Amino acid sequence: MTYQNILSEVKEQILYLTINRESKLNALNKATLAELADVVKKAQTDPEVSAILLTGSGAKAFVAGADISEFKDFNGAEGEALAREGQTTVFDAIEQSVKPVVAAINGFALGGGLELAMACHIRIASENAKLGLPEVSLGLLPGYGGTQRLTQLVGKGRAIEMIVTAEMISATQAEKIGLLNYVVAPEFLIIKAEEIINKIKLRAPLAVAGAIRAVNASLKEGVNGFDVEIAEFGKCFNTKDFMEGTSAFIEKRKPVFEGR
Ligand code: COA
Repeated sequence: MTYQNILSEVKEQILYLTINRESKLNALNKATLAELADVVKKAQTDPEVSAILLTGSGAKAFVAGADISEFKDFNGAEGEALAREGQTTVFDAIEQSVKPVVAAINGFALGGGLELAMACHIRIASENAKLGLPEVSLGLLPGYGGTQRLTQLVGKGRAIEMIVTAEMISATQAEKIGLLNYVVAPEFLIIKAEEIINKIKLRAPLAVAGAIRAVNASLKEGVNGFDVEIAEFGKCFNTKDFMEGTSAFIEKRKPVFEGR
């Protein structure tokens, strides 16, 4: 698949993904979502990729939402299909990525844009970013997991307030309520994201993947997260990286992990 709406480049084991529809404030149309689904899926088995850094083109927007022009004539069944397909192929896929995904929010993160950032594992925003779920002002509600992930991240009271008022909040407010990990000046946004990714890159990849699966399990209905943690913990003991990590500790040297 060749990409028309996203830029994708691997440098030093980091997959830099940029949503590249600047003139539409990087709104997520069908083609962009298909490209994102494809690139995230391929990254899972790409040995050159250790982590993903996701951002938007330009200085104004990360992503200003799903592309409103594409669904304005949809009926109920089409709307439901849109949400289901997007959630499965993109938003859940990002959340379940075994390569950590860091969102670098460089401006507006609205509707599907905030939902995309919330599906990522870590969120950093520049000071100028504005975040919100404005769907009820369009006669809709969030359909790409926003009602669930916002509630998980900030609690029910704050989530309902943000969703039903449709108000945007500043990056500083978002950091205060736990929606963002960090807020930085725009010129440090990518640097901060790289700094975090570079720390992760030093760790054992299979352990990182297991940790993501175990944390995700804590919020999955019908799944016992403690059992998933026990299983993932056990799996680590069969890895070469476990032997390397413990040997390096005892030998007082830095471990060199191979991801096996
Ligand atoms: N879907 C489709 N197009 C969008 C879009 C979206 N979600 N968000 C922005 N755009 C387009 C605009 O239509 C405009 O295109 P045009 O130049 O061809 O007319 C272009 O991006 C620039 O947006 P504009 O509204 O002119 O910029 P602004 O600075 O005046 O306002 C926002 C910025 C983010 C406040 C405003 O674009 C907005 O409210 N967007 C929609 C946000 C939203 O409701 N998202 C949830 C969707 S479910």
